[in-house]
Amino acid sequence: NNIQMQDSHGRGHSYARISITENCNLRCTYCMPAEGIALTPKAHLMTADEIITIAQTFVNLGVNKIRLTGGEPLVRKDAAAIIQRLGKLGVELTLTTNGILVHDFIDTFKEAGVTTLNVSIDSLKEEKFNQITRRNYFDKFWKNLELLDANGFQLKLNVVVIKGFNDNEIVDFIELTKERNIQIRFIEFMPFDGNQWNKDKLVSYAEILTQVNYNYSAEKVERMIDKPNDTAKNHKIASYKGSFSVISSVTNPFCSTCNRIRLTADGKLKNCLFSNTETSLLDTLRAGGDIEPLIYQNIKSKFAMRGGMDDDAKFQNPKLFSQNRSMIKIGG
Ligand code: GTP
Ligand code: 5AD
Ligand code: SF4
Repeated sequence: NNIQMQDSHGRGHSYARISITENCNLRCTYCMPAEGIALTPKAHLMTADEIITIAQTFVNLGVNKIRLTGGEPLVRKDAAAIIQRLGKLGVELTLTTNGILVHDFIDTFKEAGVTTLNVSIDSLKEEKFNQITRRNYFDKFWKNLELLDANGFQLKLNVVVIKGFNDNEIVDFIELTKERNIQIRFIEFMPFDGNQWNKDKLVSYAEILTQVNYNYSAEKVERMIDKPNDTAKNHKIASYKGSFSVISSVTNPFCSTCNRIRLTADGKLKNCLFSNTETSLLDTLRAGGDIEPLIYQNIKSKFAMRGGMDDDAKFQNPKLFSQNRSMIKIGG
């Protein structure tokens, strides 16, 4: 790791999440408010050239993995060109997508060397899928998921678990891994502006495991070794082809091994999912300045944990979390 990409807590940063758009073709309730959000005017969003320039700078400084996010990254008109150009940077390139448009990108992914994708799916029931996404794309989603599978992409399915909504589908999701080599990732619902988070909607890692242990005999549930910097606690059911994990950012944060930097669609380096410490790289780039010192400074000022909201009282306080962006403007 480049020493300059280290923060003041000794963590190196080699994984950049780049949001390429604030737009989305879905309206997930945990991600954005029903009334929508004020979008950044186009002139203040990064152009494709600017994305590539900043990404190249990240790579020069030691980044070896780039994940494109949104909103939904594939709704951006020049998404294919951006993916192709980033594919030439020689780093691991991947995306987090809702899957609705992937049928148009199979060749692009292959040409750019994208081999893995994280895909969001929060319910296996059409009615609930429509309810959470506030749109009707259930069949399209499944058709596209089959297409990705058939084309050999390694898939992780992201499931945000919400109490009383989809927590009764945990076993159904795990059963998807019986015959398919996919990874299901149950995600603890996290608080952001406009997503009506409250503690009662949280289904914790411990509760998820309780359900798993209730439904599968103890010797069948295997705890797997996690990769360094993994957000997920990995498990599998013995003899099943795939695996399942829990991303426990609320009850069991992985901040001590965080290696991530985030670039928002409006060109700001946001040094933690939960921090408002944002540095505009875009303004400086447009003014002809040097963005490297800004990147170092931004990383250096990173808090040890959850953007300084270490204790749960702060983290769960709506007055504080509503000062952060909505998830759709961060990209996860
Ligand atoms: P890989 O580890 O590369 O597979 O991806 P990922 O899990 O980081 O990315 P993905 O976009 O699929 O996000 C899955 C969940 O993890 C989402 O709920 C993200 O918001 C969350 N997540 C991603 N990065 C961070 C992070 O740095 N901190 C926290 N607390 N959550 C994160
Ligand atoms: N809590 C947890 N995960 C979330 N995501 C979006 N909003 C939230 C939230 N409030 C997830 C989506 C997507 C990923 C980028 O972030 O499921 O897969
Ligand atoms: Fe769109 Fe993804 Fe947010 Fe849902 S979670 S609204 S699919 S960006």
